[in-house]
Amino acid sequence: MANWQGLIKEYAEYLPVGEETPRLTLHEGDTPLIRLDTLSEKYGSEIYAKYEGANPTGSFKDRGMVMAVAKAKEEGAHTVICASTGNTSASAAAYASRAGLNTVVVIPEGKIALGKLAQAMMYGAKIVSIEGNFDEALKIVRKIAEEKKEIALVNSVNPYRLEGQKSAAFEIVDALGKAPDYLTIPVGNAGNISAYWKGFREYNEKKGSKLPKIYGFEAEGAAAIVNDEVIEQPETVATAIRIGNPASWDLATAARDESGGMIEAVSDDEILDAYEYLAATEGVFAEPGSNASVAGMLRSLENGKIEKGSTVVTVLTGNGLKDPQTAIDRITQKPKVLPNDEDQIIDYIGSITED
Ligand code: F0G
Repeated sequence: MANWQGLIKEYAEYLPVGEETPRLTLHEGDTPLIRLDTLSEKYGSEIYAKYEGANPTGSFKDRGMVMAVAKAKEEGAHTVICASTGNTSASAAAYASRAGLNTVVVIPEGKIALGKLAQAMMYGAKIVSIEGNFDEALKIVRKIAEEKKEIALVNSVNPYRLEGQKSAAFEIVDALGKAPDYLTIPVGNAGNISAYWKGFREYNEKKGSKLPKIYGFEAEGAAAIVNDEVIEQPETVATAIRIGNPASWDLATAARDESGGMIEAVSDDEILDAYEYLAATEGVFAEPGSNASVAGMLRSLENGKIEKGSTVVTVLTGNGLKDPQTAIDRITQKPKVLPNDEDQIIDYIGSITED
């Protein structure tokens, strides 16, 4: 099979790229669409996960970031800046270092999963931690980028981000032969749900590939769109989507309404149950924020908002390894400590495998 060349080359005809756009890539995209066999059997449906944790920095952000950073470079910026709950900063820092640009990230203090912070640091970002939440950090970086021309804002309010991210919808359609009946997706700053809807629409116009109903899921403690009000102090275990004033609010409600879909809230307990279930049952480990879409999908399969016989894709936005602490806190069973002795280990295995 030909080596995948990354989004800018593979999807050039769908993207705002010209001769002058650097062919930046870490070979992002082309992520697996994994059939969830146990769930498909259980619900009599065809259920798939779009595993975005397989992107080069471990989240879907790479799709948008390759475009945003390539365009920043093309337009003469020397620095990229973003606010982040973690994944955006890791991705921005990776692509900027590859493109020879500086990265400044502004993060909410103490609320970034360990893996994401480690990444941003290794990629060489300058990290500013503020006593405030994501929404406040975004306000600050938007102002800075407005005032300083050579500093490019690479949050999803940058339209190139959504252009890159829409490519995931193309890949789903290419893998299934047409759009699924339902797409379930976590909603934080609401860029990704908007990007998917754009991607499905563009492909449908070109190829008649049909449109899915879009089901978005916010965390209960950060459910601004669901409650139709800004949440001043958002809280959730799913720190990736701990956002109280989504920047792409209107685009997200348009995706919901135009697709005949819905946006609902899921509780932290539902998120964590889905997180553990998916890893233990299907062998698919995605970070808590990603599992908002699994939790919402499970509820919809149970209450009939997704009918039997449907084709469903759930978007797993980030790799489970991003947030090892939540995994360790969640699992009560710790490693069994035994002497360095084969017989005792065999006895132990016997004790856990007997009926
Ligand atoms: N899932 C993960 C793992 C995320 O990191 C994010 C957003 C989302 C879902 C929500 O996507 O914002 O497009 O609705 N993370 C951003 C960040 C905010 O800074 O990394 P969205």
